[in-house]
Amino acid sequence: MEQIIAETIQFVKKTLAGAEAGHDWLHIERVYKNALKINETEHGNALIVSLAALLHDIADSKFNNGDEELGPQIAGEFLKNLEIDEQVIIHVQQIIRNLSYKASLGKIDFHSKELEVVQDADRLDAIGAIGIARAFTYGGYKNRVLYDPSIKPNLNMTKEAYKSAVNPTINHFYEKLLLLRDLMKTNAGRAMAAQRHEFMQAYLDQFYSEI
Ligand code: ADP
Ligand code: NI
Repeated sequence: MEQIIAETIQFVKKTLAGAEAGHDWLHIERVYKNALKINETEHGNALIVSLAALLHDIADSKFNNGDEELGPQIAGEFLKNLEIDEQVIIHVQQIIRNLSYKASLGKIDFHSKELEVVQDADRLDAIGAIGIARAFTYGGYKNRVLYDPSIKPNLNMTKEAYKSAVNPTINHFYEKLLLLRDLMKTNAGRAMAAQRHEFMQAYLDQFYSEI
């Protein structure tokens, strides 16, 4: 297993070189570590949790013209060259397909403990101090304004509306980030999310006091 993980880390680092700073190797590393931590009490299959965490953003659809099959496909092609059980590969691909917040707004027909562990770890990285940094990095990358009081958050976005949103970055807190705490699936993830959520709320209070 160690050899497989080491090779996967090399592959991910190489593939994500130059990626947007919120979806780069450092994001993957944080998600991987948090997934392993959450899995200490969830006891999912460690190989599946590790591979899914490491490969979950290998070709994010929002950076690939909306193509949602590219990630699972690239992950599958890479894993087929390693000595890994076919069932493990299929499971990892299913996790990548169903992990994202976008995917969760659509129809989900796959569930597993390992999906919950990696999904909670990915969601933790969207909130708290790191989550704030990532949101503004993404907004800058997309050339979005920081805030615009005349544009109200849209709280009932469909998957399609979510994908095409061009809202001010601050709206993303209401449209996604502040909703994540109550969507956590594991006990360990929920506990970590609570503290990060509070920090974001304090941040928003300060933000408005300054503008
Ligand atoms: P997923 O890839 O899980 O569907 P997102 O598309 O929301 O989720 O992207 C993950 C992260 O990228 C978010 O947590 C946030 O940091 C950043 N991001 C995505 N969309 C936006 C947005 N409209 N404004 C600001 N940040 C965003
Ligand atoms: Ni991610």
